[in-house]
Amino acid sequence: MHCALLSGPDDFEGWRTAARGLALAGVGPADIVWQAGGDAPDLFGQDRPPATAETAGFAVPKAFVELAQMAILHREPERFALLYALLVALRERPGMMEDRADPLVRRVEGLAKAVRRDIHKMRAFVRFREMQDADGPRFVAWFEPEHHIVRANAGFFVRRFASMRWSILTPDISIHWDGETLSEGPGASASDAPAGDPIEDVWKGYYAAIFNPARLKTGAMLSEMPKKYWRNLPEAALIPELVAGAQAREAAMIAAPPTPPRIRPATRPGNAQGAWAALREEAVGCTRCPLYRDATRTVFGEGPVDAPLVFIGEQPGDQEDLAGRPFVGPAGQLFDRALEEAGIDRGRAYVTNAVKHFKHELRGKRRIHQTPETPEINACRWWLDQELGLVRPRIVVALGVTAARALLGKAVTISRTRGTAIALESGAEAWVTVHPSFLLRVPDEARKAEERARFVEDLRQVGQRLKALA
Ligand code: URA
Repeated sequence: MHCALLSGPDDFEGWRTAARGLALAGVGPADIVWQAGGDAPDLFGQDRPPATAETAGFAVPKAFVELAQMAILHREPERFALLYALLVALRERPGMMEDRADPLVRRVEGLAKAVRRDIHKMRAFVRFREMQDADGPRFVAWFEPEHHIVRANAGFFVRRFASMRWSILTPDISIHWDGETLSEGPGASASDAPAGDPIEDVWKGYYAAIFNPARLKTGAMLSEMPKKYWRNLPEAALIPELVAGAQAREAAMIAAPPTPPRIRPATRPGNAQGAWAALREEAVGCTRCPLYRDATRTVFGEGPVDAPLVFIGEQPGDQEDLAGRPFVGPAGQLFDRALEEAGIDRGRAYVTNAVKHFKHELRGKRRIHQTPETPEINACRWWLDQELGLVRPRIVVALGVTAARALLGKAVTISRTRGTAIALESGAEAWVTVHPSFLLRVPDEARKAEERARFVEDLRQVGQRLKALA
């Protein structure tokens, strides 16, 4: 029996070195005891082979390494052994990683998927409270991850809150950033983190401002913000109140005279809503392109799954990234007003983006928007295709060049394409217009008003076309 010692529960490099040496020595998975954190039993000999030239030549597919780096962070005690069994099997069957039906590959993928979700939850649900220490303000958050993700996630928080001094306390480990250096400390308990303080008001005010009861989907909201995390979120205190308000409004709507018939009867399979919810859930852990690394979360589309009209924007902005919903920031507000003027009810349209993660660069404290590149648009196209396949709209409106490229698969010039319908393979019509944030950037007031009126006119034309197609 061999005992492989790892320095901690997330020690991927230690596992890799030990696994390489053991595999090269022909040791079978059943003959190894994996010990994380140095609490090894003394009954066994200990193996921690150095990365020698011999072991360094051990080649495994990149897909395995990426998967193993995630899966190893799972709390499943068997994970080291499962990964080792997969590593050994891969030496026999190098193409095994492509075999999605293989039970071992599936099992390890399941672990990795759960870890990815946990990583995203931590990014979305950590909330800092402000306190003072000898060096000034420090922001402290308490979080309970399901898996060993804290070290793996530290880089994200350093990039995201580079200029703040902060600590994230968790039951297993705490991490601290002083503006220059990241350090680690022992685990903590919830009572070690400060309770309420002014930063909560910022979150609460922000959350209430972006909360639109007309678009409330309690189910989606709860899955976005699982109850387990509510107690850490200052804005969660508002949820019962906001939900109650929305439900009262909904009741009033039901009691009100019926609205005009739907523009298009729902002809899609009855489980489209369920399929959409599953898709949205899957997108939470999307790693199809590197943009997920710096974004807070995936911002998926929203709206009725049988909407006859779909709007596609470019990508979430700073506020959308925080709120987890498309078009809620300044461009979204302009868009809402323009839709209203054009007589289009946003609540009856499905609104999404070509790219589902916020691409930006940090300049000091500010996150500055960056236009997504073609590979990012192409990587995200998979989600857009799924959304369009489920919603099956009559009309899809591309807002700006990025959306047009994603929808039409090629670069287009807005001035040459706007105002005419383009037939899509699905049978739907594509219309192209400017992006609302273009209107925000026009410096000259007179021209801004002109461009805005043109935008509203484009939307009005789409609304009329939709009526004609009904
Ligand atoms: N711009 C976009 O394209 N989409 C959003 O969701 C917000 C701003």
